[in-house]
Amino acid sequence: MRICIFFRTFALEMENIIILAIESSCDDTSAAVIRDGVLLSNVTASQSVHEEFGGVVPELASRAHQLNIVPVVDAALKRAGIQAKELSAIAFTRGPGLLGSLLVGTSFAKGLALANNIPLVEVNHLQAHILAHFITPAQSPDSPIASSPSTPSFPFLCLLVSGGNSQIVLVKSYRDMEIIGQTIDDAAGEAFDKCAKIMGLPYPGGPWIDRLAKEGNAEAFQFAKPNIPGYNYSFSGLKTSFLYFLRDNLKDNRNFIEENKADLCASLQKTIIDILINKLKKAAKDLKVTEIAVAGGVSANSGLREALLDLGRRHRWMVHIPPFSYTTDNAAMVCQAGYFKYLDGEFCPMDATPYAKTKI
Ligand code: KG4
Repeated sequence: MRICIFFRTFALEMENIIILAIESSCDDTSAAVIRDGVLLSNVTASQSVHEEFGGVVPELASRAHQLNIVPVVDAALKRAGIQAKELSAIAFTRGPGLLGSLLVGTSFAKGLALANNIPLVEVNHLQAHILAHFITPAQSPDSPIASSPSTPSFPFLCLLVSGGNSQIVLVKSYRDMEIIGQTIDDAAGEAFDKCAKIMGLPYPGGPWIDRLAKEGNAEAFQFAKPNIPGYNYSFSGLKTSFLYFLRDNLKDNRNFIEENKADLCASLQKTIIDILINKLKKAAKDLKVTEIAVAGGVSANSGLREALLDLGRRHRWMVHIPPFSYTTDNAAMVCQAGYFKYLDGEFCPMDATPYAKTKI
């Protein structure tokens, strides 16, 4: 039996649903295609233009999105073997993120939806990161698409850690998510990136610290940990204490950073992970939640992944860690979130504007 939902002028069939998603919230231009909940393609163009500035330059990011969006969308459709006229809807990241970057993706999504007379589905970037855990890739031996090792059951706690966010989210369903703790200042990714910059490492510094930490002694140096009540985080004090620690040691030894880089990275990384894990553990115990997931760019960190698995082993909690390709910004997660919204018949008007800040 075919089920149809009528929305405005669209008659929506609930099978052979093909959605193209566009992600452009920061410095990755990404497009993906999903059919009936199965991911067919996921193409991302990262922007190297920011490296020399030690951080994302919003205006340059918008321009790079403009250059990348047509070839990226084209490649996603081709890899999926889908033509634009077959699409059921266009999903796009509406926010939060950089306004100029979001404008490029939003405008492109609107144009494509209008041209094909199909609905638009807006997606919250933070929800999409969490829903990346539900991505089901097409099974093919030569598929370049990563598959999720496990799918969480509701309710679960998700540690959402990226360059702009550090949150503990209680996920009650695909649509019902509650932030129970979040950073009151910098995000964990910012702490990685800013401390890396202080050590003269390239941007983004998180992956560099991760790599160097593997060679270092995590007990070599101690850095201040914040004392914040509840489940909230704070990382700005750590950054300052790291800066002062280096400044003091450089007075006695101008090669201090070079001679201790691996130990500094390992100690800093351990401190950030301890801060993240302690609050997460407290939240899981208090709320009696036994499934834990991690999402966002910082979830690529090998030390954090290991610490989460260890936490799961100790407490017999189920831990869900996404494949690397779904940790940083990608359109596959936007596709997945858009697909759930499509099934609920939730669409957005053509005059929707992006938003820089929003809650989950
Ligand atoms: O989610 P994301 O791609 O972008 C947003 O912030 O939306 O996250 C980017 C952040 C950066 O701060 C980057 O340094 C961090 O994720 N990151 C890592 C690692 N890979 C990326 N941090 C620590 N270890 C990593 N392996």
